Amino acid sequence: MGLLEGKKALVMGVGNKRSIAWGIATAFQREGADLAFNWPNERLKDNVLELVATLPNHESIPVGPCDVSKQDEIDKFFAEMDRKWGRLDILVHSIAFAAIEDLKSVMSLTYNAVDRVVPSYNSMAMAKAVLEAETRYLAADLGPHNVRVNAISAGPLKTLAGSAVRGISQARDLMVEKAPLRRNITQDEVGNVAVFLASEWSRAVTGATIFADNGFNIIGVTE
Ligand SMILES: NC(=O)c1ccc[n+]([C@@H]2O[C@H](COP(=O)([O-])OP(=O)(O)OC[C@H]3O[C@@H](n4cnc5c(N)ncnc54)[C@H](O)[C@@H]3O)[C@@H](O)[C@H]2O)c1
Repeated sequence: MGLLEGKKALVMGVGNKRSIAWGIATAFQREGADLAFNWPNERLKDNVLELVATLPNHESIPVGPCDVSKQDEIDKFFAEMDRKWGRLDILVHSIAFAAIEDLKSVMSLTYNAVDRVVPSYNSMAMAKAVLEAETRYLAADLGPHNVRVNAISAGPLKTLAGSAVRGISQARDLMVEKAPLRRNITQDEVGNVAVFLASEWSRAVTGATIFADNGFNIIGVTE
């Protein structure tokens, strides 16, 4: 039996098969979760639908438009999710919009440009700093409702979003050279951390930012 058998997980942020969200979705699927997805715009709609079509029982998987910058789309999407599922156990990404009494685990993706200086990350570094602080505050607010809120700080990956960060290739070379485990991470490895955060095995973990970066964040000076 999988770690997430029967759990209802909404995974927001799949853009293509290299998306971290897709690594998380396939790991959740392996562990028996029921999945739902969104697409943010018409350009990415077909990508999402094609990927969903590769999953078992894909006909019954809820998938629809939700651009999180548009409140009306968020409202419609979650009303539709509520109609189809009536509850949500796991929300991947930081769009804590579902009825909190149903949620059990919320998680978002962050990057180590919060604690270290990554010049090309620009204002995203500030956004991620807020996200990590929000993770702690939300964890404190929602803990009494038995909802856990955590963040995964992933190492550099050449996804659509990652490729937009200048210096991502050098960051990946640095991982191979200097990270304690001397290699880059994969989307699947982030997916496995997400399975842990979504499962009962992490029931004592909330408000945390967990690094999935082969230990790169601990390095100060190397030989
Ligand atoms: N790639 C990396 O190196 C890396 C490292 C650490 C953290 N992250 C974080 O991981 C998360 C996922 O990024 P990724 O690397 O998988 O890239 P990605 O481009 O595959 O995924 C980003 C997704 O954001 C979604 N999106 C963008 N604007 C949206 C909107 N207005 N409404 C709804 N959805 C919208 C798109 O669907 C896209 O699929 C991001 O938060 C990113 O900052 C990435």
